[in-house]
Amino acid sequence: MRVLGISGSLRRDSYNTKLLRAAEELLPPGVELEVWDELKAVPPFDEDDELGPAPAAVASLRDAVAAVDAIMVATPEYNASIPGQLKNAVDWLSRPAATTPLRNKPALVIGASTGAFGAVWAQAELRKVLATAGARVVEAELAVGHALTRFDDSGAFVDEDLRDELGEALEVLLTELPVRRVALVA
Ligand SMILES: Cc1cc2nc3c(=O)[nH]c(=O)nc-3n(C[C@H](O)[C@H](O)[C@H](O)COP(=O)(O)O)c2cc1C
Repeated sequence: MRVLGISGSLRRDSYNTKLLRAAEELLPPGVELEVWDELKAVPPFDEDDELGPAPAAVASLRDAVAAVDAIMVATPEYNASIPGQLKNAVDWLSRPAATTPLRNKPALVIGASTGAFGAVWAQAELRKVLATAGARVVEAELAVGHALTRFDDSGAFVDEDLRDELGEALEVLLTELPVRRVALVA
């Protein structure tokens, strides 16, 4: 089984990308996480551009989502909302509505921010947007506040609680996968 991870941050040392890497460590054998890293290359959505061939990064995103059993998106919060480039990518993915690879795709939304609340507003909006686009957004969340203090130099969590919380969120996502074969790594 395969899960696609999408970080809503373009930043090299992104805490949200670190969250995806931490998730990779927790997944059981038989479940692979592939992190899609072409977000920066997605052009601004323009309905006129839907008439021609899809831009390369959009085609890559569509193919990547279509090829997996579930997606997990780690979003930062910009001005109490979803970063524009991530929202733009979801807009592309949502079209055409009849063939969107998001249709019924299990989706976990998590997030990290340097503020106190862990991108909860951005996460709430992203859940709404993904569900509107047809994804089956799971009832789980992980809000990593004060992100500056939550990871060590290697990108690992500094406290076990966070690892457990991420594990619980992944459990919920895994129960949505077609065949649940194995438990999370302890
Ligand atoms: C344009 C902008 C707006 C931001 N607005 C918020 C915000 O509303 N709430 C918050 O907690 N952090 C906010 N931040 C701080 C981000 O949480 C911080 O930059 C975080 O590290 C971004 O995630 P990343 O590490 O994955 O890139 C903002 C940052 C930027 C660049």
